[in-house]
Amino acid sequence: MLRIAVLASGSGSNAEELHRYFSDCDLARVELIVTNNTKAGVIDRFSGKKVAIRTFDPSTESDVVLQELTQGADLVVLAGYLKMIPAAWTRAFQGRMLNIHPALLPKFGGKGMYGKHVHQAVSEAGETETGITIHLVNEHYDEGAIVAQFAVDVAPGEAPLSIEEKVRQLELEYYGPTVERWIENLILSQ
Ligand code: GRF
Repeated sequence: MLRIAVLASGSGSNAEELHRYFSDCDLARVELIVTNNTKAGVIDRFSGKKVAIRTFDPSTESDVVLQELTQGADLVVLAGYLKMIPAAWTRAFQGRMLNIHPALLPKFGGKGMYGKHVHQAVSEAGETETGITIHLVNEHYDEGAIVAQFAVDVAPGEAPLSIEEKVRQLELEYYGPTVERWIENLILSQ
């Protein structure tokens, strides 16, 4: 059974869904939640669950948390994690670290493109579709190899909040199954 660590900075809806999805899977389990934000909603969501939660300060504890990750996790899955991933982390988990981005990369990616900023930009650009991108994490923001993308239509003049809601539905529906297929392929390729 592979051990998944989920990194999250926010409300944790994706982290919670990943945990639910893998609680019924023979390949892997979510065993650790790592967050840089002591006020993150993800902490409340997991408070009653049998999953370790590690809060940390990335500016001082990055090395010690990397050690904990290499000991306690086989795979790292980012779910709304907003801090830069240190190069030592991407090296240690090369090919074993996945992120979800709430747009169709390479559009609307890169520095500053997170959360509502993405949906605002999609709305202002008059895009006719947006979606999610699930990709490997490397040392450059939002530039790792794409594992899967899922799209949804955007109506003319659609408000950012409405786009965000549609994109969240895609995330909750597809992140778990996509991570599972990715793990299957990793196992097959070993
Ligand atoms: C999601 O939209 C994710 O794609 C983005 O941040 C949001 C996290 O939401 N990177 P939650 O914390 O999982 O509820």
